[in-house]
Amino acid sequence: MCGIVGFTGKRQALPILLKGLERLEYRGYDSAGVAVCDGKTTRISKNAGRVYVLKYKTESENLVGTCGIGHTRWATHGKATEENAHPHTSEDLAVVAVHNGIIENYARLKTMLVEKGYAFYSQTDTEVAVKWLDYCLKQEGEPLQALSRFMEQVEGSYALAVLFKEYEGEIYAIRKDSPLLVGVANGESFLASDAPAIAEYTGDLYYMENKEIAQITAGEARFYDERAQEIKKVAVRAKTSGEETEKGAFAHFTLKEIFEQPKAVERTINALLKDGFIDFSAAGISEKMLKERGQVWIVACGSAYHAGLVLQYFFESVAKIPTRVELASEFRYRNPLLGKDALVVAISQSGETADTLFAVREAKRAGAETLAIVNVYGSSIAREAKYTLYTQAGTEVAVATTKAYSTQLVAGYLLGVELARGRGGLDERAYRAWIEEIVALPAKLSQTLEIRGEAEQAAKRIAKQPNVFFIGRGVDYATAMEGSLKLKEISYIHAEAYAAGELKHGAISLIETGTPVVCVVDSMFEKTVSNLAEVKARGAFTIAVAGEGKNVEGAEVTLSVPNSRLFASVAVVPLQFLGYYCGVERGEDVDKPRNLAKSVTVE
Ligand code: F6R
Repeated sequence: MCGIVGFTGKRQALPILLKGLERLEYRGYDSAGVAVCDGKTTRISKNAGRVYVLKYKTESENLVGTCGIGHTRWATHGKATEENAHPHTSEDLAVVAVHNGIIENYARLKTMLVEKGYAFYSQTDTEVAVKWLDYCLKQEGEPLQALSRFMEQVEGSYALAVLFKEYEGEIYAIRKDSPLLVGVANGESFLASDAPAIAEYTGDLYYMENKEIAQITAGEARFYDERAQEIKKVAVRAKTSGEETEKGAFAHFTLKEIFEQPKAVERTINALLKDGFIDFSAAGISEKMLKERGQVWIVACGSAYHAGLVLQYFFESVAKIPTRVELASEFRYRNPLLGKDALVVAISQSGETADTLFAVREAKRAGAETLAIVNVYGSSIAREAKYTLYTQAGTEVAVATTKAYSTQLVAGYLLGVELARGRGGLDERAYRAWIEEIVALPAKLSQTLEIRGEAEQAAKRIAKQPNVFFIGRGVDYATAMEGSLKLKEISYIHAEAYAAGELKHGAISLIETGTPVVCVVDSMFEKTVSNLAEVKARGAFTIAVAGEGKNVEGAEVTLSVPNSRLFASVAVVPLQFLGYYCGVERGEDVDKPRNLAKSVTVE
C-alpha cells in the first residue's frame, strides 16, 4: 500500500526520494508525489500513475533542495488523481505532508475546519489531517506540541512525514498503527515506511513506536513521546539490503522469487534449527509454554491464510492439537471463544496487515498467548505478538506472494513438530523423521523448479479461458486454494478452488467443454482421481499436480513433483508457475496486479 520516503542531508533530495519511491513500488500504488525544500521554498510535484512518470515530469521542474518527502499512494478516500495524490499542503504551505493509513474521524475534523474557514481541494482524509495539523500548529506555535496535540485529537492509523515551512532542513514524523523507520548515516538522515527504500544508505534503523514523534535533521534524529518529552531510542541493524529489490536477469520479480524458494526455505529452516534440533530459544518460546497449550488458532489473510490451512492439517495430524484457522478480518469482530490454553498464531509476510495486527491485539486482550510467523523484521505484528518466529524469505517484491508463503509453511511445520514433542506425541524416531523431511525440502523445491517449462505449456492452454477450477482433498484443498488465488490475482482469470468431493454439489454445473480443472492429488489419491474423472466426463481440460511416479488417470497433463510427506510445499510451485505464465501470456503486469497492494495496512 502507500509508501513514504524522506531525506534531509547534504545531497540533492529529489534523486534519493525518487529512488526510494521506486523501491517502494512493490507495495502497490496508483499515484506518486514529492515535495522538496531548498530552505526558502517548498516545491511539489505529483501525478496519477507510476513513479517513472513522476521522474520524467520532475526532470523539467525545478525541484532543488536537500530536504524532502515522497509518497506512493494507494487510493482509499478519493480516486487516484493528481489532486488526491500526496504531498498535501495547508493553504500557505506552512505544513506539507505525506500520509499512510486512514484518518477515521476525518469527516468530523473537516466539518470543524470548514467552520474555522479552511477550504479543501481534494477528497482525501490526508488533506484534512494536514489542515488539522496546520490548525494545531497555529494554536501551539511549534511543531512538537502541534504534533502532540494532533495525536490527541486524530483517530485512525497514520504514518505522517511533515515539512514545516518555518523549520528549514527538518522533517517531522509521527506514527500510529502504520510503520515508519528512520536511518542516520554520514551526516544525512532518511525516513521510510519500509526498510528497502533506504537500506542502501544505512543499515542502522530506528523503528518508531506508536505515537512517537521524530524530529529529523541532517545527520541527526531526535525522538519524543506523545507528550513531546524527549526519549532515547536505539538503532537496530536492518535485515534487508537495497539489492534485494532488483530483479537481475529475471523477467519479473514473481519469477525471481519463485526461483528463490529453495534458498529462502533453507535459510528459514537453518534459523530455527540448532544441531539438528528445533530451537526457538531466540524467540523466547519455551517447551513449557508449548506443552501447556490445548488449542491453536491461526489468524491470517490471503495466502498467509492458506498457509494456515495447510498448517491446520499438520498441527492436528502431527501434534494432535485442535486447530482452527480464521480469516483475521473475521476473527477480530466475532468474539472468538478462546480458551485459557489457546495459542494464537498470526501469519504474515509484511507483519503490517491491519486485519492480522488487530487480530493479534484481540487475542492478547482475551488473554491468549500470541505467536507470530512474520517475514519483515521489526514489523508491527512481530513487535506486538508475544513470540515471533521470523521467516527468512528476504524482501519479497512481487505483490503476489510465493517465497514468503513457502517459508511460512516450513516455519509452521517446525512449530507443529515442536508442539507435538512438547505434548509428548512424538518419540525421538518420529521427531527425527519429521526434521529430515523438512530439511529435505530445499532440495526437493530445487527439483520442482524444473517443472517450469511444462507448467508454461499448460499455462498457454488455459490462458484464454474465462474460468478455471482447482480441486483437491484434505490438505491438497488448501494448496488448491492457494493455486486459485495465484491464478486470479496475477492473470485476472476467474478461478475457484473446491474441495474435490464438493464440486458435484453445485459448481460442477459450470464445467463445460474445455473448462480447465487443476487437480492437486496426493491426499486420498483414488477418491480425488474419481472426482477428476467426473469433471473429465463433462468435458473439462484436466491438469493434475501429483507426486513423481503417480499415474493420474484422467489427467490430460500431469505436472509431476517430488514425493514428500509435506506435499503442500512442493505442489504449490507448479501452481505458482501456472499463475505467473498465464499472467505473462495475457500481457498483464504480473509483479503489480491491478488494485492490489503488497502490505494491506487498512481494514
Ligand atoms: C497473495 C498475497 C496476499 C497476502 C495477504 C496477507 O499473493 O500476497 O493475499 O498473503 O494480503 O499479507 P501478509 O502476509 O503480509 O499479512
